[in-house]
Amino acid sequence: MLDSEKQSQYQLLNEELSYLLEGESNVLANLSNASALLKSRFSNTVFAGFYLFDGSELVLGPFQGGVSCIRIPLGKGVCGEAAEFQETVLVGDVSTYPNYISCDSMAKSEIVVPMLKNGRLLGVLDLDSSLIDDYNAIDRDYLEQFVAILLEKTEWDFTMFEEKA
Ligand code: SME
Repeated sequence: MLDSEKQSQYQLLNEELSYLLEGESNVLANLSNASALLKSRFSNTVFAGFYLFDGSELVLGPFQGGVSCIRIPLGKGVCGEAAEFQETVLVGDVSTYPNYISCDSMAKSEIVVPMLKNGRLLGVLDLDSSLIDDYNAIDRDYLEQFVAILLEKTEWDFTMFEEKA
């Protein structure tokens, strides 16, 4: 896909997300619809969804795609790295990435955006593509904006996903 085409798709996508979440702040509803929106817009996407921080590790949340890995420790995999370093991680070819956790052999490239509210780690947004090198700085910028919209419109109970003692 051309960068210009990608940019206009993302502009539309982020506007759609804002409309979709208007007047709705439920976290499960919003994360579920956000993953459906992402999966429906980019045909090469094999996984679009969330891993949520339970206070010690990442646990699979609302997503669209095939059955996936459930728990990811901080620092492990692309998701764990993005969560630990609190920055977006792009992997062009997952087969050459030593710290990659393989959940689906269809996935060839990946982008993971951390979700932080008031400096607190909530989880990550994870996208996997069936194409090598499918993600670039355009995806990073618009997906970071996507996460910002999502977090702004969603009421987050910080303890909701935490593992109870
Ligand atoms: N590949 C990820 C694991 C999650 S799946 O891609 C959905 C990782 O390395 O963290």
